[in-house]
Amino acid sequence: MCGSFAHCVLRLAPGTRFSASVAVWSLVGCLLLLHLYSNIHHKDGEGEEVQLRLSSHPQLRELQQVEEEENIRIPPPKGKRSPRAAKRRPKRSSTVIDEFLDENSQLRHIFFPGKKRAIGPMKAGNDSYYYYPGRIWMDTDGNPIQAHGGGILYDKKSRTYYWYGEYKDGPTYHAHKRGAARVDVIGVGCYSSKDLWTWKNEGIVLAAVETNETHDLAKSNVLERPKVIYNDKTGKYVMWMHIDDANYTKAAVGVAISDTPDGPFDYLGSQRPHGCDSRDMTVFKDDDGVAYLIYSSEDNSELHIGPLTEDYLNVTSIMKRILVGQHREAPSLFKHQGTYYMITSGCTGWAPNEALAHAAESILGPWETMGNPCVGGNKVFRLATFFAQSTFVLPLPGYHGSFIFMADRWNPADLRDSRYVWLPLIVAGPADQPLEHNFEFPLWSRVSIYWHKKWKLPQGWSGFK
Ligand code: DGJ
Repeated sequence: MCGSFAHCVLRLAPGTRFSASVAVWSLVGCLLLLHLYSNIHHKDGEGEEVQLRLSSHPQLRELQQVEEEENIRIPPPKGKRSPRAAKRRPKRSSTVIDEFLDENSQLRHIFFPGKKRAIGPMKAGNDSYYYYPGRIWMDTDGNPIQAHGGGILYDKKSRTYYWYGEYKDGPTYHAHKRGAARVDVIGVGCYSSKDLWTWKNEGIVLAAVETNETHDLAKSNVLERPKVIYNDKTGKYVMWMHIDDANYTKAAVGVAISDTPDGPFDYLGSQRPHGCDSRDMTVFKDDDGVAYLIYSSEDNSELHIGPLTEDYLNVTSIMKRILVGQHREAPSLFKHQGTYYMITSGCTGWAPNEALAHAAESILGPWETMGNPCVGGNKVFRLATFFAQSTFVLPLPGYHGSFIFMADRWNPADLRDSRYVWLPLIVAGPADQPLEHNFEFPLWSRVSIYWHKKWKLPQGWSGFK
């Protein structure tokens, strides 16, 4: 479209013979086309332009059907208050997020459904390859999966997926009156799967250290967001993770290494990367084999990104500050057609908030913020990332531009009962927000995460064969 407008202007270049009416009509035509184009771009707001975003792959259409949710009705405040008390301190009406965080909320079943009926991707039967975001997900032994804040590695050698995450199957408590809810470190859980749907528990592949209170992996510390990448040169599986003390003041990254994807991993130590505080983090291995560490820094006000050394065991001196002043965490990076994309969350502890999608032509930046990628549900669902927080984006092999968005629905009242929200993420269609710095529309595509109460991978996906 921009091309045809430029064409139009060129036709009016000096020295060319034209009549005034031809020029005027050309201009009118161009303006009309431009208007049509910008309408297509901007109509997206509430999800009514889904048709335009449908990718050409027919089996993916199902994943892009928008599912709507009824608006959540906030129950009236509990307990009677005397008119005098109400006058003194008018009660703030509660928000959906207040209800989400209130373990006694009447709406609890909406956020944490199926507590008694354990339904998840483990249920056997022909019609059962469904993901139920937010329900309890079971492993092949029938136990709830413990892989929070995790990520997935596809191991080419064994043609197996490995899902690593925080093993949080312990009591939730507050170390300090005002401290965040926590579970003692137990270790990193690992599950394997051939089809991304049935998950076998491979055990704890990096365990807490019980005998040394000063060790990074002492149970009183924090181990979050473990991610594993494979180093083709050394043949080692390398795990990076957020290491902290109970107050989140250590703000470091830890590294562990293993010869096999199912561990055990040897812990090598921690550091403040580039001398900076580091909290939520992830690692990303690019097509050329270079891996990057991405972490929230400067008290979560910005992200840092930098390449790792060839063996993936350390950072190098190269580091770029990105999304400066945007206060983002939970970074999840992925790549499509040479463009880098990232989903992040805001910084509100265990409470859900609005996700943002970002894009960059070069991994070290500049990164542009594209807006909220969530589609469907209802407005509250979209503004709270379907009550979940990003942790990883996994490419769906064979389905160009299709990914699984992996997120955690944290349950701060009982962290071990936190749920998984996996949804289809599709990169397709025009981006709907102009670039921040020059207001032009970017060349890259829109990132959409589609809400589903239940969904399955496209039929014929090779993982099921
Ligand atoms: C938000 C982070 O994303 C989580 O990984 C965890 O650190 C919580 N904060 C703790 O409140």
